[in-house]
Amino acid sequence: MAKPSVFVTRLIPQANIDELKKHFDVEVNYEDRPLLKEEIQAKARGCAALLTLLTDPVDGALLDAAGPQLKIVANFAVGFNNFDLAAATERGVVLTNTPGVLDDATATHTWCLLLSTARRIVEADRYVREAKWKGWAAMAFLGLDVDKKTLGIAGLGRIGKNVARKAKGFDMRIIYSDVKRDQDFEAQSGAMFVDKETLLKESDFLTLHVPLTPETRHYIGEKELKMMKDTAVLINACRGPVVDEKALVAALREKQIWGAGLDVYENEPQIEPGLAELDNVVIVPHIASSTVETRLNMGRIAVNNIIKVLHGESPDTCVNPEVLKKK
Ligand code: DGY
Repeated sequence: MAKPSVFVTRLIPQANIDELKKHFDVEVNYEDRPLLKEEIQAKARGCAALLTLLTDPVDGALLDAAGPQLKIVANFAVGFNNFDLAAATERGVVLTNTPGVLDDATATHTWCLLLSTARRIVEADRYVREAKWKGWAAMAFLGLDVDKKTLGIAGLGRIGKNVARKAKGFDMRIIYSDVKRDQDFEAQSGAMFVDKETLLKESDFLTLHVPLTPETRHYIGEKELKMMKDTAVLINACRGPVVDEKALVAALREKQIWGAGLDVYENEPQIEPGLAELDNVVIVPHIASSTVETRLNMGRIAVNNIIKVLHGESPDTCVNPEVLKKK
């Protein structure tokens, strides 16, 4: 009997692909470029499973093009704003993500951005490489202290909490805002629940960890940036559209805030004109969970979900669980 077909839309660790190949007939887009709508639809045709990246919009048109034998789309990401949940649920297709395994990597990366922005590491590195350094100077590359400052966290999910735990060594005051309060975490960590206005006004370092939803789109815009301290640093390693990038460029240019560390952008891989010319921003290309170990673990979750669903079992990390009830 022919094995079910699985299409992997981009490059992922080879060990994950090898594992999939033990069970299924697997095709991989080794070119590793986001496929055009028509290309991905053509590749999906006849597949029982798709393993997608966050660069692949998974909508009704793709699911229809794949055909009624499609059982699961497994995202190689914890975020799943590229999924049309309703369209998949309506068609009985299981959608999964990769939560849990990337919290440490993403929280560590958040700290990398925070520290490198506060201490101007990238700017200083550039200066040395460009042979501009003429010797020690008392006023060179003055940065900001991090210790004992106020860390503001927008979105206290797994990653937000992990960032808070890592703040311990810096003896920081932690405030957070979320749609719900977590008093157990407050008791463990000393974090204080505040409203958004207080978060904006009191944070020395404000880090964003909300999911991208219609409500969190432009969570930080012109009005919010004006409410922040002129010594504040904004960190975004969640999703680009959570910040109004035009407003951020203006605020950084006018020194309305001190700096920003960005992993994600509104229109990836494009970045807002003017952003790259600014010295008070650290910009990296959406790599928060990019470690050898983490990527392998993300792949393991996605592959296991595919194996389970195609063997008639429930997946470990379903994001549209209503679909399982229907089965
Ligand atoms: C995710 O998993 O959602 C991340 O953005 C990928 O690093």
